[in-house]
Amino acid sequence: MKSFLSINDVENLPALVKDALEIKKNPHVYKVLGRNRSMCLIFLNPSLRTRLSSQKAAFNLGLQTAVLDVGSQGWQLEFADGVKMDSDKAEHIKEAAAVIGSYFDVVAIRAFAKLENRDEDYNEQVMESFKKYCPAPIINMESGTGHPLQALADLITINEHKTVDKPKVVLTWAPHPKALPQAVANSFSRWIQAAEFDLTITHPKGYELVEEAAGNADVEYNQEKAFEGADFIYAKNWSSYAHYGQILSNDPDWMVTENKMKLTNNARFMHCLPVRRNVVVEDAVIDSENSLVLPQATNRIYSMQTILKQILEKL
Ligand code: CP
Repeated sequence: MKSFLSINDVENLPALVKDALEIKKNPHVYKVLGRNRSMCLIFLNPSLRTRLSSQKAAFNLGLQTAVLDVGSQGWQLEFADGVKMDSDKAEHIKEAAAVIGSYFDVVAIRAFAKLENRDEDYNEQVMESFKKYCPAPIINMESGTGHPLQALADLITINEHKTVDKPKVVLTWAPHPKALPQAVANSFSRWIQAAEFDLTITHPKGYELVEEAAGNADVEYNQEKAFEGADFIYAKNWSSYAHYGQILSNDPDWMVTENKMKLTNNARFMHCLPVRRNVVVEDAVIDSENSLVLPQATNRIYSMQTILKQILEKL
């Protein structure tokens, strides 16, 4: 693997998940791969899991890390071509990406959708600029359109907990006080379908995912009907794609509750975290023995470690 921006960079998905499960059993076996090598983690947005699991994954591979919080520590970056740089943006991505890529062997970037302009977010300006100007391999730690490291961790978790070959997986929209990007939902939908599991997406009308992410998943606007017979319930809020970045509904009836979980096939509950308790999901569900939110978070280490291993093997 040269770089990891989306599922399109994965040659063999079952082999990748198998690799991750093997690495999890013996996380220090590949320690030699990172010797005398280093990775820069660049954050344009906040993080708990992504930052720490990436550092832990690097540690397990013997790889040194440096972290740059662009918002508080770095120069504000300009991404547009041909502009007169007389605003607060002191450095152009052309120089910044080239310099960082000359210091490090791998560069990982987090840059959320701004939810102001759909084309700008869905053109992946930040990731594409790093890809163009950074000489080192790059890794997507959540971008305008996707969060593939999270989706790989979710897939590892489902593989560890499924009791049938092709479980019924339900991705449910849930209410949230703030407008959130579609990245997690987009990636989850793409990866679950690539794994050939049975995926149903349920949300209020107006929250349809971009066609490329929705794929061939069943869309069910009745949440309770969608939950029937589910093996996994994955909750996530996202803002509208069609009415870009808008909150069309905050209906509390879409919260995942203990009563709704009774409609499922004793489903396991999933969420990428951070989660707003008693807004997105009831305490009784997230605190139940069917909740997988902590195993998911743990598997963020092994999703990053698996991707890093494949990149380091090609250096
Ligand atoms: N799930 C996830 O990416 O968490 P953080 O935003 O804390 O990194």
